[in-house]
Amino acid sequence: MVAITYIEHDGTRHRVDVDADMTLMEGATLNMVPGVIGMCGGICSCATCHCYIPAAWQDKLLPPSPGELNMLDSASHRRPNSRLGCQIVVTAALEGMEVELPVEQGDDAG
Ligand code: FES
Repeated sequence: MVAITYIEHDGTRHRVDVDADMTLMEGATLNMVPGVIGMCGGICSCATCHCYIPAAWQDKLLPPSPGELNMLDSASHRRPNSRLGCQIVVTAALEGMEVELPVEQGDDAG
């Protein structure tokens, strides 16, 4: 298990243990973390798993794929450190990671 802390937009913290090889989206939804929906089930087609990766953790992740970047284009409240949680696989190297969540999930059309 890998300890991940999800931080809601209002600062509320949720520290949960996530199985390695799950995604950040799965770790949040399976642990009922508010602010992550994962509507498409993780196939990179909804952007309701939008999250922000603090600078200290960015170099531990693989870069986003073109498909993830395309999907992020439709996400509300996008920032330079935006990622889709369903595209980030949890590994032991992410022990203690913090993930920040946007004020809301959804696309610009919503
Ligand atoms: S869960 Fe739909 S894009 Fe991540």
